[in-house]
Amino acid sequence: MGGGAPVVAAAHIFYDRGHMRNLLIAALVASALPAWAADASRGATLYEERCTGCHSLDANRVGPKHRGVFGRKAGGVSDFRYSTGVGNSTVVWDETTLDRWLTNPQGFIAGARMGFRVGEAVDRGDLIAFLKRESGK
Ligand code: HEC
Repeated sequence: MGGGAPVVAAAHIFYDRGHMRNLLIAALVASALPAWAADASRGATLYEERCTGCHSLDANRVGPKHRGVFGRKAGGVSDFRYSTGVGNSTVVWDETTLDRWLTNPQGFIAGARMGFRVGEAVDRGDLIAFLKRESGK
């Protein structure tokens, strides 16, 4: 039975290929996830729980009102007194910039006065979907 070794080797390569393919599929699914899993309804609940201590959609509180924030320039509510950092920022709020902001506001815009962070990517995605929906976008 001299032919055993090549068969084992071939099976090994086959296994590795399958494994690589699974890793690739897993990576693709993971990268696609935020796009199709973002849930604005869950975002509304998170917003109520975490953001309304300082924000509301239609009135300025500790932080500026949020309706219309998606697609607007940072510091764009004219009757809210922003920090100099946010007031002078050229950032426009979209999925990417809001995700960075909610990950670490002061790390994203120096001098920002919001210290609150959202640690989980899925929570940030749902909150952003909610803000987008309430901005009519
Ligand atoms: C402890 C109070 C506080 C909490 C909690 C808070 N924020 Fe803020 N937020 C602020 C303040 C203050 C500002 C204005 C920052 C500045 O001027 O530097 C702000 C600004 C923002 C901005 C920029 C708005 C604009 O008009 O440019 C967004 C977006 C935002 N907050 C989203 C959120 C979300 C979403 C949550 C909940 C996950 C949240 N914030 C929780 C205080 C808070």
